[in-house]
Amino acid sequence: MTLVVPTRSEYAAVAGRVRSDQPVGERACVPTMGALHAGHIQLVKEARKVVGESGEVVVTIFVNPTQFGAHEDLASYPRPLSEDIARCTEAGVDLVFAPLVEEMYPWGATLDSMTSIHPGPVGEILEAVDRPDHFAGMLTVVAKLLNITQPHHAFFGEKDYQQLALVKNMVRDLNMPVKVHGIATVRDSDGVALSSRNAYLSTAEREVARSIPRALTAAQKEVGTVAQKLAAAQALLSDEIELIYLEAMTSELSDRLNPAAIADSGRILFAGRVGATRLIDNCDLNSKGSA
Ligand code: PAF
Repeated sequence: MTLVVPTRSEYAAVAGRVRSDQPVGERACVPTMGALHAGHIQLVKEARKVVGESGEVVVTIFVNPTQFGAHEDLASYPRPLSEDIARCTEAGVDLVFAPLVEEMYPWGATLDSMTSIHPGPVGEILEAVDRPDHFAGMLTVVAKLLNITQPHHAFFGEKDYQQLALVKNMVRDLNMPVKVHGIATVRDSDGVALSSRNAYLSTAEREVARSIPRALTAAQKEVGTVAQKLAAAQALLSDEIELIYLEAMTSELSDRLNPAAIADSGRILFAGRVGATRLIDNCDLNSKGSA
């Protein structure tokens, strides 16, 4: 049975003792904004593999206001808490930390009124161009959630690749005592990466979205320069997608890859609008990596 706690003090009282009266060995945390899908459950499974049956797996469910822009979908973001808890129970999660906004931000949920995390240069490119405060809000809440849940391991999906890179940088740069695990993107049978925002797509838009994984796979398989790989992707993207970016970067996102080079590692990152829905996806530059 999964224990659900909404406050830091209740969490502190039970953490480490959910599986037995004695503190357990290692703890893993899977931070989420809820609306859990098979991608999140994969993170839980990987977390369990790492901490084992005697360890503790914690899922946090919190729709974080400070990472949404003024015109984004904070109010309409899905919040199916009881279904999420049922999915956690089914997946063998020990503890769910599901705080209210007031618990996380007692002095107001705006970054201006508090100490926050500066994301650094990787936080100024790609997603940050359209969403300037997103990563400061995301890193700030991740830092808070890790401080509250005190895990040895934290799990993030590669679907949000820039987020994963930034969390790794934060943990490294601020000497945070947690090991960050990046887990390969889970895809539907049509190749579309699982995302809570896919629910916004109409049937026709979903068909358009299918061209994204096809394009990324084409880029991966293209044997040639970085520019040729990007061109192969571009050729397969539906004309109905409003492209925001399609970039080839080093794996840590520290630099753009030279278009004329034949690179043996890196990442291709895509963002585009399908109707009103902004979708992101990414893959390893070459077929040997994860898509
Ligand atoms: O990926 C998400 O769901 C969120 O950005 C996270 C990491 C839970 C922080 O709010």
